[in-house]
Amino acid sequence: MKHSIHNQDPTKIEADAVIVTVSKGKAPDAKSAAGQIDRASGGLLSRLMESKEIEGDSDEITTLWGPQGVTSPQVVVAGTGEATKLDRRTAYRSLGAAARQLAKKKRSSIACCIEPHWSTDIQEAAVVGVSVGCVGQDLYRAEKKTNPFDQVLWAGIADDALAVGRVLADSVNLTRHLVNEPAAAVYPESFAERAEAVAAETGLQIEIWDEAKLAQEKCGALLAVARGSDRPPRLVLLRHQGGDDDAPTLGLVGKGVTFDSGGLSLKPSDGMFDMKCDMAGAGTVLGAMQAIGQLRLPLNVVAVMGLVENMVSGDSYKLGDVLTARNGKTIEVHNTDAEGRLVLADSLCVAIDQGADRLIDLATLTGACMVALGIDVSGLMANDQQWCDTVVSSASACGERVWQLPMFSEYGELIKSDVADIKNVGQGRWGGAITAAKLLEEFVGDVPWVHMDIAGPAFHDKPKAWIDGGATGAHVRTLVEVARNWSP
Ligand code: BES
Ligand code: MN
Ligand code: ZN
Repeated sequence: MKHSIHNQDPTKIEADAVIVTVSKGKAPDAKSAAGQIDRASGGLLSRLMESKEIEGDSDEITTLWGPQGVTSPQVVVAGTGEATKLDRRTAYRSLGAAARQLAKKKRSSIACCIEPHWSTDIQEAAVVGVSVGCVGQDLYRAEKKTNPFDQVLWAGIADDALAVGRVLADSVNLTRHLVNEPAAAVYPESFAERAEAVAAETGLQIEIWDEAKLAQEKCGALLAVARGSDRPPRLVLLRHQGGDDDAPTLGLVGKGVTFDSGGLSLKPSDGMFDMKCDMAGAGTVLGAMQAIGQLRLPLNVVAVMGLVENMVSGDSYKLGDVLTARNGKTIEVHNTDAEGRLVLADSLCVAIDQGADRLIDLATLTGACMVALGIDVSGLMANDQQWCDTVVSSASACGERVWQLPMFSEYGELIKSDVADIKNVGQGRWGGAITAAKLLEEFVGDVPWVHMDIAGPAFHDKPKAWIDGGATGAHVRTLVEVARNWSP
């Protein structure tokens, strides 16, 4: 998709469609793009708004076909809700919905008119919305249901907002693409190769650990999960050195289970079907690292992606096995489907050994988190309230929903084992998101750490108005926002 700035009269832009925005309960401002369309069309838009055919609600998209005095054959009017309440979440969704609607047919050029008085961050969100809205999950369909535009002509936008918005959009779409690819295409080695390509293009430092190195580095928990698969595991380390050498380092850790069959505790077909998405944590970290590198953010970041396939074979790890993780702690396996926490246990230790001073991990870790919070909200669990508050405020600034869950010591009691230091599931299924986090907490020592369980938001069975079904790229923007606000 090519993007360029064309600050011409929206009534004269030669494009397959023009997108303009209107606020709720407010006649279009004469100077705005909607106002210009209104004037050229003899007051069509204000008539539609007066008769409440168009109300300007944030979920409202109206197509005007062949309005008089307008060169483009169609104008898509996207409501953005009350002007005073406009935020990044609404801009992302409104512009995304307009783009997704248009992308249902093949179109070469779209003009998108942004209000110049919108703040830079809202303009950025609009760019991300459009770029994400017109990209779908139908990677393997001959006849696409979602057709990315060849060209977007922007009007009213600030240069910086377009530049940053494009970086964010490319990263969100990178994550979505990786997660939407099936396990036959994205497996530990091929994920590592993609990370290598991103590193080369973006100027990130990369190190890839293979099985021998992982064994040498005592990553016994990760290696146990990997054993059942013919696909060898990998651990990818990425580094962005944007700060002083001695400045504190942000650590990002992602669960990269490229397919989760459940292992010997095999999932039924229904539960297994979407499990190509189980590397979304690692995919999100890679997407965010690409943006952090491209934006040349002035901080140091180390990213760790633990990549395995959880499969069934004669050499699968077994129930009752006792694993020794990198930090020496022993874990008794009660369920081979609770594999993500094992992969993360070693990955978190690696991040700390690589100098992370504060940690965020992301993982499609538990169905229990979806039971607790639904599919649109990620569960946050932390060992440090201040650091958690920082992550929460970055997420809410981007309009990505998160909710903190408690980490009371009672939950820790539930993962005590009779034969090892801990076991990999709780006592029964209650509080499953938190007992998983309690296991992770055993591997972060006193480094401030936030765990994000993204099992719900990372991957959606059904489309929304502003995004196709499948991978969502959830929290790429949150991580970049944390990096932009970094002030340890
Ligand atoms: N990858 C799954 C969690 C998941 C479920 C992610 C649905 C996305 C959608 C994870 O590895 C898992 O299987 N968790 C188990 C844990 C249980 C065995 C303690 C679960 O949630 O059932
Ligand atoms: Mn599992
Ligand atoms: Zn899993």
